[in-house]
Amino acid sequence: MNETLVQANGLKKYFDDVHAVDDVNLNIRAGEIYGLVGSDGAGKTTTMRMLVGAILPTAGEINVCGYDVLKQVESARSQIGYLSQRFSLYEDLTVLENIRFFAEIRGLSSAEWLPRSLEILEFVGLEKFKDRRAGQLSGGMKQKLGLASALVTRPRLLLLDEPTTGVDPVTRQDFWQLVIKLVSQPATSEGVSVIISTPYMDEASRCHLVGFMKAGKIIAEDTPSNLRQRLNDRILELRGEPLRELKNIALQSEEVEEVSPFGDKLHLRVKAGASQQVIARLQKQIEARNAKINSLRVVPPSLEDIFILLTEFNHE
Ligand SMILES: Nc1ncnc2c1ncn2[C@@H]1O[C@H](COP(=O)(O)OP(=O)(O)O)[C@@H](O)[C@H]1O
Ligand SMILES: [Mg+2]
Repeated sequence: MNETLVQANGLKKYFDDVHAVDDVNLNIRAGEIYGLVGSDGAGKTTTMRMLVGAILPTAGEINVCGYDVLKQVESARSQIGYLSQRFSLYEDLTVLENIRFFAEIRGLSSAEWLPRSLEILEFVGLEKFKDRRAGQLSGGMKQKLGLASALVTRPRLLLLDEPTTGVDPVTRQDFWQLVIKLVSQPATSEGVSVIISTPYMDEASRCHLVGFMKAGKIIAEDTPSNLRQRLNDRILELRGEPLRELKNIALQSEEVEEVSPFGDKLHLRVKAGASQQVIARLQKQIEARNAKINSLRVVPPSLEDIFILLTEFNHE
């Protein structure tokens, strides 16, 4: 088993009566990508800010790479790279000058920073742009420069707070390739862990472990495939038109718990064991009405389906 790099127990952060983080436990090993998944206000950023020692918890313990974040914050921080949700670059400085700035405030000597910066720029694919001003980079390149800056001190724990929110799909894909490369790099033989927060379910499925956050709590934590199995044989995909009418018909069925739009189709969540019965009945009902059915079949559950299921319950 790989070494544990992050251990948090009973972590809480209350802002007066707002329970931003409410009893979170984390146990993350070297080589793991941990996805903190949840909607706006779930508590993802507050969790990360406590892990990096930027704010003090109301209660709880945090250990990062063997250091107690509350008592040995400088040592803990020396092991952490943090790309905050609204990070900013110096637009007037070049790519290399930006990295130098981050390297120097993190205490890298003049002998260390340049070779390390060039190595990391090559890793993120920005070496050709090292003399370009940051203000002249595309959105995706800025994101990579942010990542490079967070990596310049060779952290063992990388915290990425919604790095891909609002970024185009190609850039998101590129960014994920880098994150995956980072944890699988043989060069970092000690092993790096990444905690990445995201509101996107397709990204959650790339993580080794996913923690679903809601109202300050991790309401479910598991591997993506174990999470999906919770709804095995209970998700039907319905294609046809008009979708609104199909949704109404489906909702009339007692065995259908939930209907959600998935692009140009619907996902129906049915009660356990009811999928074949629902398929047979709905086909007839839809044909009898003024609606058209193109296909109706059982599909493998997506993390989005799981997320919808989990967020329906009140976990207070
Ligand atoms: N400094 C603060 N003062 C008061 N409330 C805060 C503060 N920071 C965060 N919150 C509240 O804590 C909750 C969790 O916020 P946050 O951690 O930013 O969630 P997320 O990153 O998942 O969107 C929200 O209700 C937010 O308004
Ligand atoms: Mg946030």
